Amino acid sequence: MRPVLHVFAAVVLSLVVAMPTAAKTPAAKTATTAAHASHPPGAAIASAHALATDAGLEMLRKGGNAFDAAVAVSGVLSVVEPVSSGIGGGGFFLLHDAKTGRDVFVDARETAPESATPASFLDAKGDLDRDRAQNGPWSAGIPGLPAALVHIAKKYGKLPLTTTLAPAIRIARDGFPVYERLEKGYASRRTVMERYRGTRAVFLADGDPPKVGETFKQPELAHTLELIASKGFDGFYRGETATKLLAAVKEEGGRWTPNELAGYRVRERTPLKFDYRGWHITTAPPPSSGGVALAEILQTVSGWDLQKLDPAHRTHILTEAMRRAYRDRTIYLGDPDFVKVPMSRLMSPDYAAGLRATIHPDKATPSELLPGQPAPLEDDETTHYSIIDAQGNLVSTTQTVNLTYGSGMVATGTGVLLNNEMDDFALKPGTANAFGVMGFEANAPKPGKRMLSSMTPSFMESKDKLVVIGAPGGSRIITEVLIGILGYDAGLSAQQVAALPRIHHQWLPDLISAEAGALDAQTVTALEAMGHKVNAAEANWGNLQTVAWDKRANTLEGGTDPRNPMGKAAVDTAPRAAH
Ligand code: DON
Repeated sequence: MRPVLHVFAAVVLSLVVAMPTAAKTPAAKTATTAAHASHPPGAAIASAHALATDAGLEMLRKGGNAFDAAVAVSGVLSVVEPVSSGIGGGGFFLLHDAKTGRDVFVDARETAPESATPASFLDAKGDLDRDRAQNGPWSAGIPGLPAALVHIAKKYGKLPLTTTLAPAIRIARDGFPVYERLEKGYASRRTVMERYRGTRAVFLADGDPPKVGETFKQPELAHTLELIASKGFDGFYRGETATKLLAAVKEEGGRWTPNELAGYRVRERTPLKFDYRGWHITTAPPPSSGGVALAEILQTVSGWDLQKLDPAHRTHILTEAMRRAYRDRTIYLGDPDFVKVPMSRLMSPDYAAGLRATIHPDKATPSELLPGQPAPLEDDETTHYSIIDAQGNLVSTTQTVNLTYGSGMVATGTGVLLNNEMDDFALKPGTANAFGVMGFEANAPKPGKRMLSSMTPSFMESKDKLVVIGAPGGSRIITEVLIGILGYDAGLSAQQVAALPRIHHQWLPDLISAEAGALDAQTVTALEAMGHKVNAAEANWGNLQTVAWDKRANTLEGGTDPRNPMGKAAVDTAPRAAH
């Protein structure tokens, strides 16, 4: 996993979880008579790879807006982090268009192919066939990311795709230096990846897997990106690329149809909005479970002043709220185009008040008293970036191929590594997926349906501050973003927020997971006395990327997760001609 937790981070979490006396007044929200700036003084971008952040800044210098920068950042991440995301996968793009004042959620989630019935993922004994669910062509949904890049460029951007995808094409063709996570991720998935001819052609091009320091080139991916840049949607979903994708899936024993590819569409959805202690939060609607769970947790804990509680009680209250929200995720959440999600109930402050009333002030509620049954695991891929531009446009994007290197299968001749997002469906009701989360009918696979996600790209705004935030981390994304929001609420800087140590509870398994150093021994003992099970020494997880604009001071800042040495947060306030 990731390098050792930044020492500083342990100190900082104490502001949020551990030491009430150190809590800061949320300076960003105090009343002021000073005038607030109407626009940011420049732009800020935080992403998981410096080459991606730099590509975004390059588009802004060329006269592009945040949406052009987003296309460039997404494109480069797809090339330099194949371990995490790519054009063979999907993602969610939360946008704020400063011109219209409108927030929109571009849902580029993968869809289930027609062949993907629940029965196709069961073995002869009726058990979940995890190999099919997580490896190779059956594990892949129809990709959504290329459609999103085309849609965003056309509808919101100012620059042509030939410009915004140029950095990705260049880096795919000329290569980039291999870093540790790529090499280690490959080692962990090697036996699966090398089953596939297309994967071997890319990753064993010189006979050996990519090694740290070597230059990794993906000429076929460069060609596919060029087709998208010049032909738009048809460059991926019809014609040459589509033909190759269909042939590769067939060759490896899967079944996709030309219509499934040509029929893929992004959905523009209305983001969820709710308030927490003076912050307006804008976040991901279904088919993400992230926004609903975030709203449930924050509205539940709003009955306490977390900063005034001792660390054990603060952790207790937070994790009890998490437990209840993840229970609802399991039972009710799915693709809203296919199932009726009881949104008004789950988003209601009254519902949260009801949940609050069931939390004993100093006793854990065993998860087995709420319906369901136990489960395992965790992974560390997916990627997030956050952008603010000088006009006040915002982009919060989380994109993914799901697990490390997705399905492991590159479609021969395209350079496109296919996702393994099908594992995010409840392929067998009540059986946990790779993240230990399960689901029932609401998240059962159906042709054309989008699998439930935890990705939670979000904005938060108070009178004085505007924040863009998000993270990878599978089912832990939601609690990672939650801890980030609490960090900003406690008055922390963007970099402090990105570094915060993490805790997590997801109903099942009935366990508080904590990064080493997040909870001290005394707090763990107190939590255990309340009836909690605690693993206080888990390996670090997540990769949070955030940017913030202080409207009162008119300053910008970025925060990049210290767990990922490749990330880069940058602020660019160079004067520019109006455009
Ligand atoms: O959509 C989701 O919730 C997952 N496919 C995200 C996967 C992820 O974050 C992987 N890494 N930690």
